[in-house]
Amino acid sequence: MGNISVCCTGKMVYINVAVCLLVLLLMIGLSVGLSVNTFKGRDALDSAPLIDGHNDLPENLYEKLNNNLSAFHFEDDLSNDDVWGRTACSVCFTDLPRLIAGKVGGQFWVAYTGCESQYKDAVQRTLRQIDVIKRLIKRYPANLRLVTAAADIETTWKSGKIASMIGIEGGQSLDSSLAVLRLYYELGIRYITLTHTCNTPWADASSVNDGSVYNLTEFGQKIVHEMNRIGMIVDLAHVSHNVMRDVLAVTRAPIIFSHSSAFSVCNNYRNVPDDVLHSVKENKGIIMVNFYSGFVNCNSSRNATLEDVVDHINYIRNLIGVDHVGIGADYDGINSVPEGLEDVSKYPDLFDRLYENKEEEPTWTKEDLEKLAGRNFIRVFQAVETVRDSLLSEPPREDIITGNELYIAQKRAGLKPGECQTADEWKNINPILKTE
Ligand SMILES: *[C@@H]1O[C@H](CO)[C@@H](O)[C@H](O)[C@H]1NC(C)=O
Ligand SMILES: *[C@@H]1O[C@H](CO)[C@@H](O)[C@H](O)[C@H]1NC(C)=O
Ligand SMILES: *[C@@H]1O[C@H](CO)[C@@H](O)[C@H](O)[C@H]1NC(C)=O
Ligand SMILES: *[C@@H]1O[C@H](CO)[C@@H](O)[C@H](O)[C@H]1NC(C)=O
Ligand SMILES: [Zn+2]
Repeated sequence: MGNISVCCTGKMVYINVAVCLLVLLLMIGLSVGLSVNTFKGRDALDSAPLIDGHNDLPENLYEKLNNNLSAFHFEDDLSNDDVWGRTACSVCFTDLPRLIAGKVGGQFWVAYTGCESQYKDAVQRTLRQIDVIKRLIKRYPANLRLVTAAADIETTWKSGKIASMIGIEGGQSLDSSLAVLRLYYELGIRYITLTHTCNTPWADASSVNDGSVYNLTEFGQKIVHEMNRIGMIVDLAHVSHNVMRDVLAVTRAPIIFSHSSAFSVCNNYRNVPDDVLHSVKENKGIIMVNFYSGFVNCNSSRNATLEDVVDHINYIRNLIGVDHVGIGADYDGINSVPEGLEDVSKYPDLFDRLYENKEEEPTWTKEDLEKLAGRNFIRVFQAVETVRDSLLSEPPREDIITGNELYIAQKRAGLKPGECQTADEWKNINPILKTE
């Protein structure tokens, strides 16, 4: 009996071990299988912040409400609102519920004033937009937090808030002054787009196509160098192709394109040509892809779709690598968005789609998607801060643009030069220019 029992027990031990092993193997197999099957591209937005390079909601606040935030209900889903809804407003895509649905973890809110303000009240209007962005952030402390350092993006996002950063779009906001540039940094601005749709006296906009009026002038180079010194990110969205090249040749820090796509895929001059993409790789910078229908799809016989945005992202990745691409949708600055990317709630669909890795497309791992979402941008921002810290001993530049340059630029812009100017440089215009 004892022997039999021992024998049985021994057998049972073997059987138990075998069963245990089997169950273990099944569990491992199942969990591997499950994790492969259940991971979706959007899940990468839970392990890295999605940072969008460009949103123009502040411009809409100005256009619609003259920046009166008491009349704005950011906490509501505004999709069907009488003022902000899809049917009422062709440039409105943003509110808090949809940002949260879209898993947005960091956002550059844009302080923008149009080219019509150049040489006039551009600085004042830019300040008003910075003010309304800061008031918006303060009004929603549970959802938004002002961020001015790369290291604070991830901690803010982990605390459940959108890391809210401020960029200025258009060199007209500088009024050609390094003093104004430095004070913008002190106000918390972390990038400046060198131009909008108009040339400044020191840099051409994309509207010159492959031509040139100024390119990047000597004073333009000084602006770039001063931006490098203080830690202001140089944004090359909107500048001419020649200015992209000129800036990349002189900048001491990585640059960004806050909202631009690939010229080879859609040949609009707002997009980035291949030679510049290669330079951005060398520069260790980033192209944050714009969703605007007219920039992502150049075929007028069909509408833009999410697939077009996928094509731009994959094109850039294939050409220069996964470390140099990001997202800068341009919501609220555009009036036509691709099917499938209708508003700020749709980003996760794009990440799901990239993870599908269709034939002849690059394979997107979770880590790749995290880079696209935000890690690439954070790396660039940190590098810009490192350059700033390495230049601490360099004194502030005291250069002033010449009166002649301003005179010529204003004349070219169809204005009567110097009409409202009181600054000293206007006293030193070459008399020949004055009588031209
Ligand atoms: C701002 O909007 C609120 C709410 O609509 C309104 O009561 C108030 O009069 C407005 N303020 C100004 C200065 O227009
Ligand atoms: C601007 O730069 C391009 C490319 O370097 C050059 O061909 C062109 O002549 C320049 N234009 C001016 C006005 O300097
Ligand atoms: C443009 O779109 C139409 C309709 O989808 C398609 O038939 C045509 O081949 C496209 N043209 C180009 C150049 O891709
Ligand atoms: C393009 O989109 C517009 C507006 O959404 C729609 O009316 C039109 O039918 C679409 N065109 C095509 C070719 O799908
Ligand atoms: Zn823009």
